[in-house]
Amino acid sequence: MIAGKKIILGITGGIAAYKAASLVRLLVKGGAEVQVIMTPNAKEFIAPLTLSTLSGKPVISEFFTANTGQWNSHVDLGLWADAMVIAPATASTIGKMANGVADNMLVTTYLSAKAPVFVAPAMDLDMFKHPTTKRNLDLLRSYGNHIIEPAAGELASHLIGKGRMEEPENIYKVLDAFFDQQHDLQGKKVLITAGPTYEKIDPVRFIGNFSSGKQGFALAQECAERGAEVTLVTGPVNLSIAHPGVTRIDVMSADEMHNAVVSRFPEHDIAIMCAAVADYKVEHVMDHKIKREKGDAPVLTLVKNPDIAKAAGAMKRPDQVLVGFALETDNEDAHAHEKLLKKNLDFIVLNSLKDEGAGFQCSTNKVKIIESDGSETVYPCKDKRMVAKDIVDVLKSKYLK
Ligand code: C5P
Repeated sequence: MIAGKKIILGITGGIAAYKAASLVRLLVKGGAEVQVIMTPNAKEFIAPLTLSTLSGKPVISEFFTANTGQWNSHVDLGLWADAMVIAPATASTIGKMANGVADNMLVTTYLSAKAPVFVAPAMDLDMFKHPTTKRNLDLLRSYGNHIIEPAAGELASHLIGKGRMEEPENIYKVLDAFFDQQHDLQGKKVLITAGPTYEKIDPVRFIGNFSSGKQGFALAQECAERGAEVTLVTGPVNLSIAHPGVTRIDVMSADEMHNAVVSRFPEHDIAIMCAAVADYKVEHVMDHKIKREKGDAPVLTLVKNPDIAKAAGAMKRPDQVLVGFALETDNEDAHAHEKLLKKNLDFIVLNSLKDEGAGFQCSTNKVKIIESDGSETVYPCKDKRMVAKDIVDVLKSKYLK
């Protein structure tokens, strides 16, 4: 519920700034207290007077008021808020937020904010597609911010594509749903595996896979924000997670991940096995670097790694829930059903590498949830954070008391 919540609305200098007035109106009508912060450019698009009238609070834009010298404390504001929303967020502000360029009141407040942050990008389609913007949005996601994806349609440039700020009604709905479920995993302990495993060949080489860890980290963030105590066992990834509810355990190989999971599973209510564990390891790891010799190439003998999900399935008590993933390239459903049974999972999240926008490295995923009671739900392609929300929603509604 939005009523009673304190919300900072950051407005940046894009044409969609005019829609921010409707957003303020909706939030205030919903019972929120809204403090608007504008970047200097935003004021070229919409008058501060409109926003201060709608919010009932003077708009903040500068670090201090020129005529009185009164200081606007970004630290106090950051601590005051229950949520911070940046709508519209231009490519420039997204870049500043991702890289800590704190040269205005909005970005300094963002850096001080303890509350969850929602970013609603708005820009031209080519700016949105640019690798710089993608990288900056990925960085913001990796810091736990929520990205409210822009919609596709006609843009201010009259070009058609993705980049329109999501409508104020939908931004309101995202916030409302977020506050509603904020604490629905309170008191639950969740164990999550993420990322790839690396299996050593010699001191400088390994066998690995393309898993980025993004889906597992998104799940950890989602569970922690909904009040769970999370243990995140992760293989080698380039991601960070800052939520105080998450305890991170870094491992390298499948054996290390297996030990970390098996020793901790009994004290958890839920385990979500999201890691892309190497099925095989090298039988004899060399203790020196293998040299390139003349003649035949070396032959590596592989042996099976432990199946961590299966081990957890064998230990599972009736009061525990076990969720697995299946990444398939063919015969997807049959393989997923087989794994569901073999590993004693409660449900399995299937993604196919055939689907565009699904699988390794990318920020989106397209999944189907297959449950042990036979029910199946197909979801559209979404941001991995939203996929995490869908998975936790299933967990919450059907598997937790
Ligand atoms: O058998 P497959 O690797 O396709 O199964 C995928 C599921 O099993 C995922 O949930 C994955 O995290 C888990 N798994 C595991 N240990 C392995 C292999 C897979 O936990 N050695």
